Order: sequence, then structure tokens, then C-alpha cells
Amino acid sequence: MTVKNGAAGNGMVEASTAMRTAAAMAALLSAACSAPPQSAGVADPEATAALMPAGALKPTLAPEDLVSFRRLPAYSEPVWVTRDFVAKGLLPPVSKRLPREPLVVGPAAMPDGTGHYGDALRQVTGGRPEGWNYSAGQSQGWGGVDIGTMECLTRTGPLFLVRPDALRPLPNLAKSWSWSKDGLQLTMNLVEGARWSDGHPFTSDDVMFYWTDNVLDPQVSPLGGAGPDTFGQGSKLEALGPYTIRWTFQRPFPEDVLYQMAYGKFCPGPAHVLRPQHPRYNKRNSYADYRNAFPAARVNFPVMGAWVVSEYRPDDILILRRNPYYWKVDAEGQQLPYFDELQYRLLGWNDRDIQVIAGTSDLANVEVPGNYVEVLEQAARPGAPFRIAFGPRGAAYSVLLNLSGNGWGEPDARAQRIRQLNRLPEFRQAISLAMDRRTLAAALAKGPFVLPYAGGILPETPFFDAAATRVFAHDAAQARRLLDRIGLKDTDGDGLRNFADGGNIEIVLTASPDTATDRTLAEGVLIFAREIGLRVILRFVGGTQRDAANASGQFDWLLTRANSTELITVVQGADALAPMGPYSHAFHRAGPDGQLDLLPYETEMVEIVRAFQATRDPALRRRLMARYQALSTENVNAVGLVRFPGALVVNRRIGGVFGGMPIFMFNWAEDAIMRERLFVPPAKQGGVELRPRTLPGCFDCKAR
Ligand code: GLA
Ligand code: CA
Repeated sequence: MTVKNGAAGNGMVEASTAMRTAAAMAALLSAACSAPPQSAGVADPEATAALMPAGALKPTLAPEDLVSFRRLPAYSEPVWVTRDFVAKGLLPPVSKRLPREPLVVGPAAMPDGTGHYGDALRQVTGGRPEGWNYSAGQSQGWGGVDIGTMECLTRTGPLFLVRPDALRPLPNLAKSWSWSKDGLQLTMNLVEGARWSDGHPFTSDDVMFYWTDNVLDPQVSPLGGAGPDTFGQGSKLEALGPYTIRWTFQRPFPEDVLYQMAYGKFCPGPAHVLRPQHPRYNKRNSYADYRNAFPAARVNFPVMGAWVVSEYRPDDILILRRNPYYWKVDAEGQQLPYFDELQYRLLGWNDRDIQVIAGTSDLANVEVPGNYVEVLEQAARPGAPFRIAFGPRGAAYSVLLNLSGNGWGEPDARAQRIRQLNRLPEFRQAISLAMDRRTLAAALAKGPFVLPYAGGILPETPFFDAAATRVFAHDAAQARRLLDRIGLKDTDGDGLRNFADGGNIEIVLTASPDTATDRTLAEGVLIFAREIGLRVILRFVGGTQRDAANASGQFDWLLTRANSTELITVVQGADALAPMGPYSHAFHRAGPDGQLDLLPYETEMVEIVRAFQATRDPALRRRLMARYQALSTENVNAVGLVRFPGALVVNRRIGGVFGGMPIFMFNWAEDAIMRERLFVPPAKQGGVELRPRTLPGCFDCKAR
């Protein structure tokens, strides 16, 4: 079951002809029949637990066990770097390239002991690099290319290792911070003497350029979606010196903003190369010129990450080489990363798993449900080149209904009427009742992998309350009655419901064509909406265009992978649980007048999230989240579809892998696993590096 136009990227796809629907329906249903019976009730967390090795995840560490900033007596680096670069005067000695106090990755973060230099980590991405200006919204190709090159003020990926009572974001570019007495100001100290991969100093200038000219500039949307409200409504930021910045907030002690300063919301780009292209400083440039000033072919773009993209062959490979200025070391003073090279084969999302199975890739998040059975079978075979770990946290999919009735995204008359429908509780309930989640689950994968998802926070969080979760199990007849009740009737007898004064209701569902999962679910939603007399038109937009449609409010319904940390951790990104500010929420923002038009249940959710953020009392927090869950699911705040556990597959030659890795929790596994300290033991090294003994070239060499 695929939608052909999907791959083309941009088209409006009308897939609801009778023939097409019948065929697709048959495909969905035949898949369903071969699946074991499943309750359409509350998703069963035990089904997920059953897939994990018992006791796999025991978070026992404190943040300071993982990372600290200290000066060590001596530093070292791969022998070839000293010999071929430092000794020849091409590079300063490693001690001069490191900060005064580098970030030290502690022994507790090294489950197989200190690592060894050399070799390449081989990965696959289904994305493609648009260019390197992520500050202006360009994608580097996802799959962890982003995470390997960007560094952020704080870091949260590895927090799955931290015990609950010690939980707080790890320091990163911000090495320490302190609150004012009244909690309204937060002063952060930046790592001192760290450098971009081209040797240029990293300072508060980079931070302020990102903030002022990207986050606050209404014409720029950074990748990851940071905006003026992301760090709390009305927050201000200023530089007090080259290594000191100060935040001023509207509410006291907003500790949650420290989570927001991690990937991908506060990861500054190199101001020294970006600023000269920004329209505010370059009168010849438009905003589009700025965004596109660093096309993918312009490699060696300066980064703070462990590796630098130094070669790009379209539809073939990205080769990243070690950043000689990386500002992190192990406890013995060895500069990280251990891997000299990081490779990204540019294939399809489905290929990630296949390549690890085949032994030609080292690491992947298994998140294509259709691959699970194959991956498990292959993992069980003696001599399999990889191991598999089902982590405790998974993926979920929802349909977001645009709840703005106020002109956000400049809807035309048709779209505005859909918004008004979206705002009716009966309408949202009808949509939820129409979704046959069992059939959707079975269409994605045979076996017990995919479960119904009722919406709201995910069952794996400690805040999940099953009793508070309202499930609208499949009941098309009831859905039809609800639509009748709000006056949506088929007045011309063609089987599709009409607006009271005219034509058929047409709802556009925006979805990504980039994975089979998205395509299957989008088609399923179309079919089940059709069953209750609603015509849905699929609009597939790939790459960052789907995100752009979301950010600009140009959608009726949006199919989304609920890979948002707020649903999985609650403590990280809690702000995203409700429309807290005029421009922060995924599916409800202010119109041209700057005003939100919140529904009553949304107003209550906002108050709950505020109260949650204002208290540290665990019992109160749990009660608040139970209430949130009740409001969110009773009102069908979003239409949950399905959820499934994620698995990490890792080649057996890789050392330093933690047990019980989630593929997504506080962040994707590529961050959580801390790739800068993965390694291959010397006996198993060899044969995979493509550019041995090279360092990234200079950026934009022609200009020099
Ligand atoms: C994509 C993939 C995820 C993860 C992220 C990292 O979203 O689907 O598994 O690799 O990229 O950015
Ligand atoms: Ca009709």
C-alpha cells in the first residue's frame, strides 16, 4: 500500500476514488485478519516491557558522573594527528586546541573502559542534506548527522542513565549556571577557550547571534523550531562578557528551560561565517540568500561537534572526519572522539535496519515496524554481526487537528471552516471513534509490535495514568451519530457529508512521504474518515517542508510522529503540552492579532502545565499530569493512532554501548549513546575508513 505521488515530494494526492479506497481497505483488512486479536483499549505497557531484556535500564548515575569540566595534567590525540599535522606546523598542539578546562567524559560513561582511537562509525540516513545553515532551518540530512555536528548549551540525550532524584540537564557549551535569588535571572558560564572546527574561538558572540538574528528574527526559523517563546514567554538574553550570558525570565526558577536549551533548540551556529550572509549585516542578501548561503556541496562548514562533514557525494555518502578542535576528552586526557571518521550512506529510511543486519552499517534506530520481525529473526541467528536491544521508549503517531480559529496560517474560506469543525468536541471525538487502530497496527506490522495509542502522554512515562486515559475505541456508528448531531449531513446523496450550505466537506491531511509508516497511516486515516462520510485529501510534503507547513500553520490536519520528548519524559519540553504562549504550540497558535483563541479545556491544560512547572512535589506533579491526561484524551486534543517500541541495533565490533538504550527518550539514540566515546577495540579495527589520516579541509578555501 503506497501512494505513488509521495516520492515526488509535493503533490496533492486525491486517493479517495472508490476503486482506490476499496483496494487499500482490502489491503489493510487482510493484514488485520492475520494478526492476533488485540484489545483496542488502553495500550498495554506490558506488551512493550515483554520485548525488553528484564532490568535492562537501571538509571543509577548522577550528571557529574557523566560529564565534568576540569583541567587534566596532560592531553593526547591520535598519533597520526600529532605526527602529520602538529609536528609539521599545520596545527597547534592538542593542549592549545582544547579549552582551559575541557569537558571530561567520566569513567562511569565508559561501560567498556577507556576507548581506542581509529576506525569509522558507519551509519545510514534516509534524509538528504539541504545545506549547512541549520540556524536558518536547513536540514543536514537527519539520522544523527545533525547530532554529530551540532552542540547545544545543555545536553539531555544521555539522561536516560541518570537516576530520577538527580535528574537535570547536563552542562555542555554552558559549563555551569546559577540562579538569582528571586529566580528570575539565570547566569550561564560558557566553556572557555573552546574553538570551532576551523580554529575560530567560540564565545558569547555565537550565542547572541543565534538568539538575536535567528531565534528572535521573525523571518528566520531555525531547524528544531526555536522561537522567541521557546525558553519561556518574554525571556531575554544578554551577554555579560565573552564567556558569560544572562537570561531574564518572566516567572521564577523556570528550570524546564534548561531542557529546552539542549538539542535542537539552542545549538548556535558559527557567527563568524553566518553573520556576513545575514540580511541585517549584508544589504545585498535576502533571507532566502542567507538560508541558502551554505549549500551541501560547500563542505567543511565549521562546527562544534565531534565530526565535520568533509566530503559529500549526492545520493551516495557523507564523510565526516574528526574535529581537531573538539573540546571534550576522556578521564585520561585523550581528546575525543575515538572514531576518526563518521560515514553516512545516503539511502532510504528502510535501509538503515537492513544495512546493520547485513553488517555494513554499525548503528540504527529500528523504527520501521514492518522490519521488526526480520530484524528479530536475523538477530537470533548465530554469527549475526549485530546485537539488538529493545529500549523502554518508543514511537507514536497522531493526527494533529489545527485548533486555531483565529487566522493562523491565513486559511482560505474552506480551511477556515475545517478549523471551526476541528474546534468542536463532537467532531474530534467522531474522528477518534472512526479510527480502527487495530487495523492500522496490523497494517504496519504483523505480530504484537504495534499497539493502539489513545493520545496524550505515553504509557511508558512514570506520569502515565491508565485510569485517567479516555479511550475512544473504534465505533463508526457512534462517530456517524456525532457528526449527524452537529449538522454535518450528506445533502446530495453522494456518500460524503456536506457543509450546511453547499459542497462536500474536504479536509486536507498533510503528511510526510519519506517513510512507509507515514504513508500507510495517512492512507488509513483517509479510509476511516471516508467510512464516516468525510472526504480527506492527502497532501504529501517531504523534507523540511512538512515542518514548514506545521510552523506556518498551513494545515487542516497533520500526521505526525509524536517523537516529542514532552510526551515521553514530561519533564523535558513540558511547555509543548499545551498552547502556553502565542507562538509556541504545534497546532494552536495566535492569529495576526497576536491573540490565542483557546478552548476551555486548553485553558485548563495551560494552567495545569504552569502548576506542574512551578512545583517539585512528585505527588502533586503526578496528580496534575493525571488531570492533564484526562483533559487531553477526553477532549481528543490530538487523535492518537498507534505506538510501538523502538529497538537499537548495533554492530558487535562497537565498544562502549550501554544496555537498555532507548532509541528516543530525552533525545534520539545518536545523542543518548554519546557516539564521541564509542570505539572499536584495536583487534577488530580496519578496512572501513575511507579517508584515513586526513582532517577536515579548510572551509571555503577559495575565499582565502
Ligand atoms: C530521524 C530518524 C531518527 C533519528 C533522527 C536524528 O528523525 O528517524 O531515528 O535518527 O533522525 O536526527
Ligand atoms: Ca455529499
